[in-house]
Amino acid sequence: MKRDTETRVKRRMAMSVCVYVLCFLFLLAVIFVMLIVNDPSAWTQYFIDHISEVLLVTVSVFFLVVIIFFYFFFEDREMLVKTRNTLLIFSLLIVSTIICYLFGRFINNYTRPFALFALLTLFLLNRRHAIFLNFIFTFLIFVIDVYTNAYDTGRLVEEVYSTLMLGFVSGTLAVFFAGSVKTRAGLIFTGVILALPTSLVVALLNLSVIQSDWGLYLANIGYRMLGSIISAVLALALMPIFEVVFNRLTLFRLRELTSTNAPLLARLKTDAPGTFNHSLIVAQLSEACAVAIGENAELARAAAYYHDVGKLKQPDCFTENQTGYNLPNALTPELSADIIRSHAKDGYDLLQANHLPKQIADVALQHHGTLPIKFFYEKALRISGGDANIRDYSYFGPTPQTRIAAIVMIADGAEAATRALPDHSPDKVEKTVRSIIEERMDLGQFADCDITMRDLTTIKQTLVDALSSVHHHRVEYPSIRFNRGGESVQEEKDDETHD
Ligand SMILES: [Fe+2]
Ligand SMILES: [Fe+2]
Repeated sequence: MKRDTETRVKRRMAMSVCVYVLCFLFLLAVIFVMLIVNDPSAWTQYFIDHISEVLLVTVSVFFLVVIIFFYFFFEDREMLVKTRNTLLIFSLLIVSTIICYLFGRFINNYTRPFALFALLTLFLLNRRHAIFLNFIFTFLIFVIDVYTNAYDTGRLVEEVYSTLMLGFVSGTLAVFFAGSVKTRAGLIFTGVILALPTSLVVALLNLSVIQSDWGLYLANIGYRMLGSIISAVLALALMPIFEVVFNRLTLFRLRELTSTNAPLLARLKTDAPGTFNHSLIVAQLSEACAVAIGENAELARAAAYYHDVGKLKQPDCFTENQTGYNLPNALTPELSADIIRSHAKDGYDLLQANHLPKQIADVALQHHGTLPIKFFYEKALRISGGDANIRDYSYFGPTPQTRIAAIVMIADGAEAATRALPDHSPDKVEKTVRSIIEERMDLGQFADCDITMRDLTTIKQTLVDALSSVHHHRVEYPSIRFNRGGESVQEEKDDETHD
């Protein structure tokens, strides 16, 4: 079994290396097109006439690509194992390089959106990768500049050198400035803020231009300011394409998915209002738990919003949506259990069909793990005189594979169990949450995810605090009535205060 897994990982790694080599060749081809369109000679003649440049560019790009490979090999090997990640990295590099090249060729070199690559990488991968890859991207642009525009158009060395500085400054500052951005408007604002330091770089590197041409000096600064804002606008425009094509989850996409106007949530609100309200509370609890153990709070919240969408198939079969008639009570325990346990798989299928991110669909599938549906199992035992197989009354699984899935599983169970409590004192809530976690541990529900005992203790305390405040004791409102003169005519409780 272990050998099978190792063989599979090795095969996937070999596949990824092949894809990596193909991506390198494609990147090189794109760069050569940029070199060749700048030269009036025939394409084949170009390689003969500029063989030394061709070799230098090939070797430079090869080393940059090898450095990226080693970076991921030692820092985040998972990125290399998945072919889709390799394609994403090279797509970002190629698209950003082409856009920078086109801006430089047809508008102005200082308008080039140098921060575009860093911003996209920041939101589609992460901050650490964005900072590193931005250095590689900047050097790539520098190589292209040196071997294309620079000597063909006779541009100043300062201009090529400033490309290098602008790439480092724009990209690195963009990562820092946009690191805490949570809205699309905030991203545009990052572009505006970024315009200041990057135009300062241009102002300082172009001091020699002041003597010869004041107008050009000021125009270069203006072009650079525009370039920073264009970086943010383009990042905003291109991000949804990368999100969908590579099925990546960005903060923006998560925010959109958790809007109550999102199609599936809107359906849940109208067709299964009880489930919708339950999901809102589970989302609130999951988010708090994720923050407490250092997990992705936005993802936990989104996953919890969608964890029960499978109930949309037959909303009336679930107690929270019933107003009187209880459908499962009219069916055999086996059939009832079958309907109930199917909602995890139905939710997964529905989310996949609606192209929601796999991470969210996986949580819907795993949020009950392989837990038994005790109510119907007990009923079946009672009716059959003890002849019931627990497997027929248990969820299909799999058990939670991630810490987020484990959080949603616990928050879901804790919410449902405490809602039914007649007494919501902290002691009772603590006892209930503890039993929910212990029961899941005893049934091996956390065996496939890397959640620790410390995490579970933190989650328990977070849930107790949150649920105690959700169900905190409310004093009864005094039943006072007033007559038309504003005088109290009935007063049963007048000595208590409102909460
Ligand atoms: Fe559920
Ligand atoms: Fe639920």
